[in-house]
Amino acid sequence: METPRCRIVVLISGNGSNLQALIDSSRASNFKIVAVISNKPEAYGLQRAKHEDIPTQIIDHTTFESRTKFDKALADTVEDINPELIVLAGFMRILGNSFVMRFKGRILNIHPSLLPKFPGTNTHKRAIDSGDKEHGVSVHFVTSELDGGPLIAQEKVPVLKDDTPQALAARVLEKEHIIYPKVVSWFASGRLKMKNNDAMLDDEKLLLSNVLIQSQK
Ligand code: GRF
Repeated sequence: METPRCRIVVLISGNGSNLQALIDSSRASNFKIVAVISNKPEAYGLQRAKHEDIPTQIIDHTTFESRTKFDKALADTVEDINPELIVLAGFMRILGNSFVMRFKGRILNIHPSLLPKFPGTNTHKRAIDSGDKEHGVSVHFVTSELDGGPLIAQEKVPVLKDDTPQALAARVLEKEHIIYPKVVSWFASGRLKMKNNDAMLDDEKLLLSNVLIQSQK
């Protein structure tokens, strides 16, 4: 009998290249994407999901009168799907505390910077403008602190002389597409957990000093 795979829901807002990386790796991995939800009707990632016959839903935040109502509708939809893990992949809405608490320890996010540096948006431009020699990507558990939940893995890229935000973003995305499926499969196998606001891999606490090494495993 086939071993049941970890059921994940992916939340997107745009292109969905990370979604594509997850779709591709899920074919030979221990997780299965059971639904894709977008807050933007035009998100290209919805086409990627449809192409793979993955059910999609649109929950357009502009049709809700408040952030709380949007969060509640999104949370109710996710709960109906009943996934083990919620994966934010370029999902450009901040999730409120009630959403985060409802799925505590079961939400991952990927962020294009070496957190805690550059939370928020425009990370590539900010890294270049700061004169940083290195930039990269972080995967973390989601808590109510924006881009501030416990770190799980990071991957670095060099910032090159005369880099543009677009060129740097493309270099970071290549790493994102490797690191995210890897972290999702850690969760799916039960190796990765959030305990007392710490990320634990194989029962060891992940610290800022070792998340880079962990991403090599
Ligand atoms: C990625 O850089 C991701 O880290 C950030 O938004 C971007 C989404 O890209 N959160 P894509 O939609 O997966 O192509």
